[in-house]
Amino acid sequence: MANITELKKTFVELFGGTEEGIQSYFAPGRVNLIGEHTDYNGGYVFPAALTFGTTMLLRKRSDNVLRFASGNFKKTADITLEGATNEKEHDWVNYPKAVLVHLSKRGYTFSGYDVYYLGEIPNGAGLSSSASVQLVTAFGFMTAEGHPVDRVELALVAQESENQFLGVKCGIMDQFTVANGKKDHAILLQCDTLKYDLIPFQAAGHKLIIGNTNKRRGLVDSEYNARRAQCEEAVGYLRQAFPNLQLLGELNAEQLKANEHLIPDETVRKRARHVIEENDRVLASVKALKESDLDAFGQLMIASHDSLRDQYEVTCKELDVMVEEALKVPGVLGSRMTGAGFGGCTVSLVKDESVDAFLQEVGRAYAERTDFKADFYVAEIGDGAKAL
Ligand code: GLA
Repeated sequence: MANITELKKTFVELFGGTEEGIQSYFAPGRVNLIGEHTDYNGGYVFPAALTFGTTMLLRKRSDNVLRFASGNFKKTADITLEGATNEKEHDWVNYPKAVLVHLSKRGYTFSGYDVYYLGEIPNGAGLSSSASVQLVTAFGFMTAEGHPVDRVELALVAQESENQFLGVKCGIMDQFTVANGKKDHAILLQCDTLKYDLIPFQAAGHKLIIGNTNKRRGLVDSEYNARRAQCEEAVGYLRQAFPNLQLLGELNAEQLKANEHLIPDETVRKRARHVIEENDRVLASVKALKESDLDAFGQLMIASHDSLRDQYEVTCKELDVMVEEALKVPGVLGSRMTGAGFGGCTVSLVKDESVDAFLQEVGRAYAERTDFKADFYVAEIGDGAKAL
């Protein structure tokens, strides 16, 4: 967590005035434990909020200007919300701008503020740095203005702003997790209905290790949208058997197996298989966790990665190597890519006594077999957006 005393000093250096009236907010990053590329198919996901994320300081101004600055990026911008559009030149500022524009569309009003961010989440690593910025903004501004704070609404507005204002067709998982996370709990979310359960992540004697391949997610937007389109195509074919079918997440593996001949294209068939089997895996892993069967949980993580590699085809050499090397270390129960894929991070479930060997061995082998050096974080599960 960032040092607020230091941040306040920086804030005053940047914007002038005194520390009086500065408010501080925080929103985490997230790691998805299992259930990848199921959210936009109306399926289940099982993510958790992290203890690191984005801190935002803000102080009310007497006009309607929003002055944005960040400790991570050089770009600063002064904007007003009326008529605001996505401008390339505004770079990262488009994220908070998008969410505030979409909150305004729902009738919420905002005065001007000086705003300063400090993020701890590596960018482009698939740990939802952008959802973290969106939610710290939405939560902080709504609280500061005395508007009602409904976390599910904030997540939906953030997703809508990313879809419509920024043109990224992401699902709801990231924003929902960053808004609703709870310390030591993972969230079982049904993405169609947004019904959710907070499940205690009971894994005494084990750690979750996030491994950053440091391969930035390439191609992610175009390939992501292509996968979405293939899922919709599969739904179209499967309607011959299920006329009211809207989303792949409504089917189970048996229903698909009996009807997959209706999908003529082998690639599209593989995409559908991944989504539906992954959906079943989420429920199986929650059951395993509740029964303290961490071995079974680990096996499901491995099956998830295999499917993302072979059927959904969203891994890359770096992710595959990191998972492969992780699974060679004794005491590693499971390992998989997390997030959209094409680079970014893996998550592994590791026995306490194997953590050191993991960091050393996976780090060494990964550097040997790829052009990158890995970073590792022993993850703790934290709370969703909050005032500090
Ligand atoms: C990205 C998207 C999410 C989800 C994952 C894949 O993180 O933002 O909505 O689709 O990819 O599971």
